[in-house]
Amino acid sequence: MSNSGPLRGSVSTGGSKNAVLPLLAATLLTDETCVLDGVPDLKDVEVMCRLLRSFGAEVEQDAAGRRIAVTAGRIATCEAPPDLAKAMRASVVAMGPLLARCGEATIPLPGGCAIGDRPIDLHVKGFLALGADVEILTDESGAGCVRATAGRPAGTEMYLDFASVGATENIMMAAVLTPGTTVIENPAQEPEIVDLANFLNKMGARIRGAGTDAIRIEGVQALHGAEHSVIPDRIEAATFMLAAAITRGDVLVENMLPNHVVPVIAKLRECGVRIREEDAGLRVDGTAGGFRATDIKTLPYPGFPTDIQPQFMAFLATANGPSNIVETVFENRFLHIEELNRMGAGILAEGRRAIVRGGAHLHGAAVRATDLRAGAALVLAGLVADGETTVADVYHIDRGYEDLVGKLEGLGADIRRMKNGGPQDSVDRRVFAE
Ligand code: UD1
Repeated sequence: MSNSGPLRGSVSTGGSKNAVLPLLAATLLTDETCVLDGVPDLKDVEVMCRLLRSFGAEVEQDAAGRRIAVTAGRIATCEAPPDLAKAMRASVVAMGPLLARCGEATIPLPGGCAIGDRPIDLHVKGFLALGADVEILTDESGAGCVRATAGRPAGTEMYLDFASVGATENIMMAAVLTPGTTVIENPAQEPEIVDLANFLNKMGARIRGAGTDAIRIEGVQALHGAEHSVIPDRIEAATFMLAAAITRGDVLVENMLPNHVVPVIAKLRECGVRIREEDAGLRVDGTAGGFRATDIKTLPYPGFPTDIQPQFMAFLATANGPSNIVETVFENRFLHIEELNRMGAGILAEGRRAIVRGGAHLHGAAVRATDLRAGAALVLAGLVADGETTVADVYHIDRGYEDLVGKLEGLGADIRRMKNGGPQDSVDRRVFAE
């Protein structure tokens, strides 16, 4: 029988991946020690720590890896190693701090065409507006890198054509040490931007308006060390909410901020999932089942997050009736559809729109995580599919989920990580009939 494993119990969300990466980059802005608490144990965090070390920073972690102290006493080089920069797009947020602190920064771009598929034009526009000189360099193999040098730094007013998260972070970090006042109009308003501004202000920066439609930064001469706790991961929290909903379970998600996931709560409620705030967290009760379809359009915060679109799509495949999903943030974020369809999801992609037939009876299959959130969507689908699902390439999941398998197991999921006896790096899931 399908849908036979309702998850039950409570699960705790870790620190936010998307908050901690720019926070770590921000530690390059001072020669004093900065301490971050509540750091999640993730591959991307490991890559960012290696990147900081490559610039000459000392990075110390406690045994559990939750607390990281960074001292960038001396910056030995302002050039990021290509292997690290290519491993993680977020490496680009080291540019703003390096430019501000050392007057130069060079970051290799992800392979292929210089700024083709994964543009950083808004970051570059911001640096140029702050008086930097920026060159895009390409070697014979076609690999590109972007080099910024300080030129004549001066605060200015600028408008972002799109509220890019990374560009807002990079410009904020470059502007904190830039003389004069910088105003960013149409910045990203994500909670991670607010967390970064709070940390920078603890370091002595003067930033106002983070989380609104304009950020104002008064440049200061130097920043000092600070301590900060990372905010909880709203995407991980939302993934657990969907795990409860898709399995028709009843789960208390702890250590999360419900006001960071307002659209996810609203859309789940629209489908008929019961959600209520309790002292310890957010209770997501999907035991009534019989869920309705809904339409979703991803948007910059406070709109529906693109990072939860694949997981919500997996859920909607099991709801009654057709749903429309429009992805407006990323051009090519439907790679999970083919994999979900292998499990019988019945989803049609047309450009940036996906039509989910609904009412799917998912069956187990050998599928592949094409990226981080796609991997999470496949795990969720596997939780309600008949038979066995094997998700390959789970290194994508490790980038952004701390012990996803262990946490789902704690809620009663039948899931295990395959070390031996199966393809390396795979999550194996069996659903037993009721
Ligand atoms: C961040 C998040 C990522 C999330 C995304 C959107 C981190 C580490 N990652 O990524 O999980 O999915 O926000 O919420 O925080 N763009 C340009 N030019 C630019 C920059 C971006 O055209 O200079 C485009 C991108 O191609 C994309 C869109 O803007 O289509 C959103 O990108 P952006 O907000 O910058 O995302 P990231 O900061 O890369």
